[in-house]
Amino acid sequence: MAAWTLLILLVFDTQLSVLSECGVAPLSTRIVGGQNATAGSWPWQVSLHLTFHICGGTLISDQWVLTAAHCIVTNTLSAWTLYFGRETQAGPNAHEVSRRVSKIIVHPNFNNTFLNNDIALMRLSSPITFTDYIRPICLASNSSQFYNSTSCWITGWGKLGKNEVLPSTTPLQEVQVPVVGNKQCSCDYIPAPEANITQQMICAGQANKGACQGDSGGPLQCKQGSKWIQAGITSFGIPCAQAGFPEVYARVSEFQTWITDQVGGANASFVTFTSSGTDQDSSFVCRSTNSTTSPNSGNSVKLASELAFVIILVKMLIDYISVP
Ligand SMILES: *[C@@H]1O[C@H](CO)[C@@H](O)[C@H](O)[C@H]1NC(C)=O
Ligand SMILES: *[C@@H]1O[C@H](CO)[C@@H](O)[C@H](O)[C@H]1NC(C)=O
Ligand SMILES: *[C@@H]1O[C@H](CO)[C@@H](O)[C@H](O)[C@H]1NC(C)=O
Ligand SMILES: *[C@@H]1O[C@H](CO)[C@@H](O)[C@H](O)[C@H]1NC(C)=O
Ligand SMILES: *[C@@H]1O[C@H](CO)[C@@H](O)[C@H](O)[C@H]1NC(C)=O
Ligand SMILES: *[C@@H]1O[C@H](CO)[C@@H](O)[C@H](O)[C@H]1NC(C)=O
Ligand SMILES: *[C@@H]1O[C@H](CO)[C@@H](O)[C@H](O)[C@H]1NC(C)=O
Repeated sequence: MAAWTLLILLVFDTQLSVLSECGVAPLSTRIVGGQNATAGSWPWQVSLHLTFHICGGTLISDQWVLTAAHCIVTNTLSAWTLYFGRETQAGPNAHEVSRRVSKIIVHPNFNNTFLNNDIALMRLSSPITFTDYIRPICLASNSSQFYNSTSCWITGWGKLGKNEVLPSTTPLQEVQVPVVGNKQCSCDYIPAPEANITQQMICAGQANKGACQGDSGGPLQCKQGSKWIQAGITSFGIPCAQAGFPEVYARVSEFQTWITDQVGGANASFVTFTSSGTDQDSSFVCRSTNSTTSPNSGNSVKLASELAFVIILVKMLIDYISVP
């Protein structure tokens, strides 16, 4: 293992063509179950700032960052600063580089349905040079499949819980989460009628493991061979990591053509993620067809107040930003 790592690092130093390869984290030889990510583990992770961190994003080429549409709370380009190679929000960040934004493109069909097509692109003021700490991720191509239970990871500087802000000195957090198929996820979200789970969404998460406010725009990423492939963009959920409510992500593979058209000649790399076996979700049958027939109605009052939070997740962010 050690010899192999050394070889790869050497190749990165000497070969330009390999330098532009997507989804490879030279400093991440393995990821353990801990919460703190070690520096360089997720070199495509971006921190979007409007004077402070509001959302995550991913570097997809030397000029473009992918994020969630709901993170674009202002189109004023000069308001934004993007940080690459960042470890903590407090610093010091030895490997960090920042860029301004020269263009923002929000998906034109964002807001057709509640948080559907929650995807946006930001063009950097000038191209970025890749290092071991700053590199692009691969994007899931439109023929990718992510079967139920596929093991993926999410990363972000968001809250640790509904009422627990991540201390600014704590590094980027990582957590492993299973994909939850769309049939099951749609069934799970029946009690939250404003949230329609569409084909443009992918769900992942389990009780006490998931995304929270501040993680929006960041990646749901899955490893195939030596490459990390972005399956989703953190979009919404019932704060936070509630049992029975996986988090919902924009399904990157649905946007291959749109992304390719927007970034023009720039090189975003699409890779096909393949699942093996059969998808358990294809035979999933939703038992309760409406929330009032659900057997655990004892929880429903408490749950109702939590569900109201689906929307507030976004609104709260906007209110917070509006404060001068
Ligand atoms: C979405 O549409 C609603 C209703 O038309 C509107 O009030 C809201 O501002 C829109 N949100 C965004 C982010 O465009
Ligand atoms: C959710 O989908 C249903 C059925 O397609 C539709 O009637 C409803 O208006 C949608 N809700 C929202 C908030 O988009
Ligand atoms: C889908 O995956 C989730 C998470 O691993 C699991 O809890 C659930 O039982 C799976 N569903 C089916 C139908 O296998
Ligand atoms: C994560 O990092 C913070 C800040 O450096 C530290 O206080 C904490 O103990 C670390 N957690 C683990 C599990 O190592
Ligand atoms: C997949 O993406 C490629 C490249 O953008 C495009 O040519 C093709 O039509 C897409 N296929 C589907 C099913 O969208
Ligand atoms: C895309 O990649 C090709 C091959 O590496 C390179 O020749 C070309 O200049 C790149 N284009 C952009 C816009 O980065
Ligand atoms: C849910 O089921 C109950 C009992 O079958 C029924 O009375 C109620 O109208 C249903 N609600 C919806 C929204 O379908």
